[in-house]
Amino acid sequence: MAKILVVTGSVRPNSVNEKVVTIVVKQLQDKGADTVVANIKELTMPFYDFPSPSLSERFKPTNENVLRFTAMVAEADGVVLVTPEYNHTMSPVQLNAIDWVGKEWQDKPVALVGYGWSGAARAHETARETLANSGLKARVGENQANLAFKKDIDTDGSILDESAVTEKIGAALDEIL
Ligand SMILES: Cc1cc2nc3c(=O)[nH]c(=O)nc-3n(C[C@H](O)[C@H](O)[C@H](O)COP(=O)(O)O)c2cc1C
Repeated sequence: MAKILVVTGSVRPNSVNEKVVTIVVKQLQDKGADTVVANIKELTMPFYDFPSPSLSERFKPTNENVLRFTAMVAEADGVVLVTPEYNHTMSPVQLNAIDWVGKEWQDKPVALVGYGWSGAARAHETARETLANSGLKARVGENQANLAFKKDIDTDGSILDESAVTEKIGAALDEIL
């Protein structure tokens, strides 16, 4: 059974993220995957403050939550990032979490699920650059899910078009599964 890590992307109260994460986890479980959620709100990590980059030989972080998150990434067969679009890019707390992990990203299958007024294509662009096109070298799926407010989901995270949501998220998950 594939072990899939789902990484949250918002620390706002009553965030839409929690609802989308719930949908993603249910779909993964329906598809037979074992799921683990990395809740960035609970797993608070400092802004990246290590003297060397995460791919450096000298990279030896000691922060407990950084080490926990790193272990979660290392132990997962694949990772799903659930992210809102903030100011035309990905959520900064999620990006900070990605930055804290180095070699464990290499070859890791990653699926992108995002939401915003016109989906989250610009957030996904940043995630793809960071994970696939930098030295981290993760394998980011082509089928990125873009959930649009007032079409696919409402601004409170409730589902408006169930078949579109299932299809979009399903395509992203199937690729990494
Ligand atoms: C700082 C900030 C910037 C935002 N920028 C965008 C944006 O560029 N595009 C968009 O579609 N929505 C944008 N929004 C709206 C968010 O997509 C919306 O508030 C969403 O609910 C945020 O996700 P969350 O509830 O999980 O935090 C922005 C929201 C915030 C708080």
